[in-house]
Amino acid sequence: MKITKIALGLATVTAIFVTGCTIAQKTYSEESLGLRKVDLYTENIVAPDKTAYKTEAAGTSTKIDRAFENAPPMISHDVEGMLPITISNNQCTMCHDPAVAESMGATSIPKSHFTDLRPETSLAQNGKIIKEGMQVDNTSDLKVPEQKALAHLAGARFNCSQCHAPQSDAKPLVNNEFKADFRMDGANKESNLIDNINEGVN
Ligand code: HEC
Ligand code: HEC
Repeated sequence: MKITKIALGLATVTAIFVTGCTIAQKTYSEESLGLRKVDLYTENIVAPDKTAYKTEAAGTSTKIDRAFENAPPMISHDVEGMLPITISNNQCTMCHDPAVAESMGATSIPKSHFTDLRPETSLAQNGKIIKEGMQVDNTSDLKVPEQKALAHLAGARFNCSQCHAPQSDAKPLVNNEFKADFRMDGANKESNLIDNINEGVN
């Protein structure tokens, strides 16, 4: 990532504190401005952390805890040779398809991925939006109907790496202090989105 461009040109930032009649000036060195602690004028000595994806093969890796309830789990194993996913080559499904997942020791693709979450949408003559045969004002107030279960993987879920990413062991520049609030035991290890996807919808 190039955070540098934003900071370029800012040689010194001068903060002026006006207290009554006295003016106190504090200067900051340019090394202290950016997240990288080096000269902001040159990129010659800027070396980002090397991207080092996990090398444990599928079947030997240790799963990563969910970041929050029903977050897409991160890929814990090596994906060498599996990406990019193409229309004729989706290796992920070869191990994660519910029909084979258990025998492969892999987490099964959940029901939510075999559900059509896209409501049938049309425009009425009066210009109002019709979703699932109902006129709606607020499109987020729409329940996912049970009959939307599909016999095949939903097209919107075909490109697994759009949501599930392999992980590189890079040191964060700023520590993330977010702590997820899991509402039930085990929710940091598995998902149940399809059971509560209508939560909060009238
Ligand atoms: C050769 C079989 C195989 C292939 C191919 C494969 N996986 Fe996996 N995957 C596994 C296994 C087995 C696990 C369980 C962890 C382990 O044993 O390494 C796993 C774990 C995962 C997890 C973590 C699940 C959890 O519950 O935390 C995700 C996400 C995942 N894989 C996604 C993918 C994606 C996306 C692809 C395609 C790029 C893929 N996998 C390809 C076998 C496979
Ligand atoms: C649009 C984003 C998206 C795409 C694309 C997607 N997933 Fe997911 N996936 C999620 C989310 C969000 C969850 C957690 C909530 C849930 O269960 O739906 C999840 C959960 C999972 C889980 C964990 C299930 C469990 O019971 O804990 C597996 C395994 C998985 N996905 C595999 C895949 C594979 C393989 C593909 C490609 C065929 C894929 N996903 C495509 C978003 C996505």
